[in-house]
Amino acid sequence: MLSVKEAIQQRRSIRRFRPDPFPEEHLFEILEAARLAPSGGNAQPWRFIVVTDPEEKKKICKMALEQKFLEEAPVVIVCCADLAAYTQASRRVRLEEFAQYGVLETLSGRVGALQPGAKDAPEPPEDAKRRSALSNSYIAIEHMVLTATALGLGTCWVGAIGARGELNALFNIPESIVPIALLPVGYPAVVPHQRPRLSMEQILLRPLATIAPPKEETRISITA
Ligand SMILES: Cc1cc2nc3c(=O)[nH]c(=O)nc-3n(C[C@H](O)[C@H](O)[C@H](O)COP(=O)(O)O)c2cc1C
Repeated sequence: MLSVKEAIQQRRSIRRFRPDPFPEEHLFEILEAARLAPSGGNAQPWRFIVVTDPEEKKKICKMALEQKFLEEAPVVIVCCADLAAYTQASRRVRLEEFAQYGVLETLSGRVGALQPGAKDAPEPPEDAKRRSALSNSYIAIEHMVLTATALGLGTCWVGAIGARGELNALFNIPESIVPIALLPVGYPAVVPHQRPRLSMEQILLRPLATIAPPKEETRISITA
């Protein structure tokens, strides 16, 4: 299994898969990596459907701009965000866990916003729930992507998932569960070259004066 650093460096978006299945333990490890992801207030809004049925994959592919690799990969994980994770009732449970598991005791100083009273905060508006659910679920998805890479498997984030409600209808899931991405998983048939990246200088809004850059061969950047 690759290290985190190796997985980050070797990951590519894979758009050609071998049809052969991969061990079930790998699928478990990938999903377990999502389960263990961090989330604001420990809301854990991510939900998944594992799809292996060729007919279901064909339907998914059709919805998602006919991106053929969705049909070719042995497994497609439908990644969803559950808005119900942000109801007042759910947040209350999570906050009680915070106290129960001694999270606040690990802090130095005072955290006013997390103190009693937070649990009585009003339910956030729909768009705020949606934003939190999506951004936190994305973290879990990238955990899966890197774990799959570390196990020698390929994936490709697919954000173009078709019209709103189509996947809900196909899998009979309620509107409060929002499909946000599709993740085909399988052995890569072709591993592409690294795609270009912005340089360190382009992404740092303030230059680093004291930290030495990594060795040249580990850096990928575009110079334009
Ligand atoms: C949120 C998100 C949505 C994406 N949606 C698609 C998609 O619908 N189809 C696709 O082929 N690639 C998709 N990608 C993959 C990107 O095109 C890819 O990550 C980017 O070009 C960099 O290439 P690399 O992943 O090989 O480094 C998506 C990536 C992300 C993070």
